[in-house]
Amino acid sequence: MTPEPSRLKIVFVGHVDHGKSTLIGRILAETNALAEGKIESIRQSCAAQGQPFEYAFLLDALSEEQEQNITIDTTQIQFASALRGYVIIDAPGHLEFLKNMITGAASADAAIMVIAADEGVREQSRRHGQLLSLLGIPQVIVAVNKMDLVRYSEERFREIEREYAAFLRSLGLTARSFLPVSASTGENVTSGGSSAMPWFKGTNLLAALDEFDAAISAAELPLRFPIQDVYRVENRRIFAGRVESGTLRVGDRLVFSPHNKTAQVATIERWAAPTAESATAGESIGITLSDHIFVERGHVASHEVDTPIESNRMRAKIFWIGREPLRIGSRYRLKLVTQDVECQVAALGPVLDAATLGSSAVEHSELRINEVAEVTLQTRAPLVFDNYDRIPVLGRFVLAEEGNLVGGGIVSGAVYTSRKEIKSENIFWSESEITAQRRAARNEHRGAVVWLTGLSGAGKSTIARALEKELFRRSMHTYVLDGDNLRHGLNSNLGFTPEDRAENIRRVSEVAKLMADAGAVVITSFISPYRIDRTRARAVVLQAGAEFVEIFVDAPLATCEERDPKGLYQKARAGELKGFTGIDAPYEAPEDPEIVVHTHKQTPGESVAWILDGLLPRLRLKGSCAGRLPTKKQ
Ligand code: ADX
Repeated sequence: MTPEPSRLKIVFVGHVDHGKSTLIGRILAETNALAEGKIESIRQSCAAQGQPFEYAFLLDALSEEQEQNITIDTTQIQFASALRGYVIIDAPGHLEFLKNMITGAASADAAIMVIAADEGVREQSRRHGQLLSLLGIPQVIVAVNKMDLVRYSEERFREIEREYAAFLRSLGLTARSFLPVSASTGENVTSGGSSAMPWFKGTNLLAALDEFDAAISAAELPLRFPIQDVYRVENRRIFAGRVESGTLRVGDRLVFSPHNKTAQVATIERWAAPTAESATAGESIGITLSDHIFVERGHVASHEVDTPIESNRMRAKIFWIGREPLRIGSRYRLKLVTQDVECQVAALGPVLDAATLGSSAVEHSELRINEVAEVTLQTRAPLVFDNYDRIPVLGRFVLAEEGNLVGGGIVSGAVYTSRKEIKSENIFWSESEITAQRRAARNEHRGAVVWLTGLSGAGKSTIARALEKELFRRSMHTYVLDGDNLRHGLNSNLGFTPEDRAENIRRVSEVAKLMADAGAVVITSFISPYRIDRTRARAVVLQAGAEFVEIFVDAPLATCEERDPKGLYQKARAGELKGFTGIDAPYEAPEDPEIVVHTHKQTPGESVAWILDGLLPRLRLKGSCAGRLPTKKQ
């Protein structure tokens, strides 16, 4: 059975009076998308009311009809070219569109921006462009409509093209094409070779739509199989869920995230159906595994070559629908496929009013109903996800508060850290009965990795040592892993090339993970100049179920150079030391660290106090008072 080729989902956007409905009506009429006699009957009722016929009425009539017939999904306005089928996403207003896109009720593959030639680019044209960029819709055609009203002037068309193309560029978007059309006269909509515009050598609108890339079906994407339930049937454990994307086969080696445990698929079971050799996106199945590993609801299976992102910190665009505003520091339940974790709002970016799509210059501390913003969320447990533009189902989530839906979000710009290839075969997981939780309960604090990053001379080692003392004083298990020290032993075979630095950080994060798993609060003090290496370190540590807290030890290069505690800046400037961070090797500052200290403005004591404020609450177990200073014995 060959699956029906999927229809391309398109949305029409643009200023309200620029002729979207007329254009849609014209396309529906000319592609014979309407029921027989439909146009005629609308023509007649227009005539009866003494009203001129307009193509826009077709759309109204269609929507009304669909609203009455509740069995039809109201968003399904369809038409077809000779090449393929299309679905027009019904966007009565951009507010609904934005909400639907973010909550997953609708998803557009491509967009047509309509700009009227007479009025030109308006504020709303720009805001809708922003919307497309916000949602990451890359395929855009700009239809310059109402060309009849400007006497099909090429000059006017080019003027709008120049202006709007420049605007799109400023948003990082490039339109596939700019097309002059007239929806009311039908010029260049579904038939080309316009006699009114001999100067235009491009295609008509329908042909341009056919040039859009086909939507990638979920089955073609990398495998994501989120576990919904684990059943025990006799001696077998069956892991049930829906294949959200990709294809899964008997014999495949799967990676279960978080924790990155691997196992082979033994069987694929279906409800009331024979077992199968494979299952693909959209199917609800159960699988059994050849290896005995711990997997539970919320874990996501993928193939080793293409794993999802795993982190406890992510940036997302949130659409807020809660009555109570979202605030920095507030906690919500974050639900993403079968995962359900507590999260806290760590930062809030510029706020966009979804009704007007206007962004305000003032810094906001809250996000109110119908507003959109980029936020940083910190989850209590590691979260498995993808960027929305890569795998939409795994890049979309909702936020809930006391069981009520308060917002929806999409993830973008997160970094994939490919799994290190495991070279040895025949290796198995062995699980300890002494879990991290049991160790934490005895220690009265959680294991953690406190990752200091910053330029040489920024003060990492000083702060690390002072912090270690403070934690030790509080009866906590703590230890410092220091760059210079480890380079004397474990990492003595590594230099300072980007590859060696990556390997340095990989080893450190693996060691730190083990120590944190053993219950310690590990403080690492490494320049760790590359963002991707630090992101990997975070993922590695989270797999062990420990906390990861990134601290940016910030000081201007000039200050570090002035301090020059080891005389290395001087050597680097003299050309005696090559590839020195900050001089002739890069330092990528963290975009979103949990804690920042500014050592050129704060004393070491102040920096450490600030770190303790942010750190201790994360290390505490529920109900414990870990981190309190011991009271003096009487
Ligand atoms: S990292 O970049 O791989 O994270 P790491 O923190 O381990 O570096 O080591 C940095 C220390 O090595 C510096 O504090 C400095 O003493 C020393 N060092 C020697 N050569 C270099 C260099 N080219 N760049 C940075 N640090 C160097």
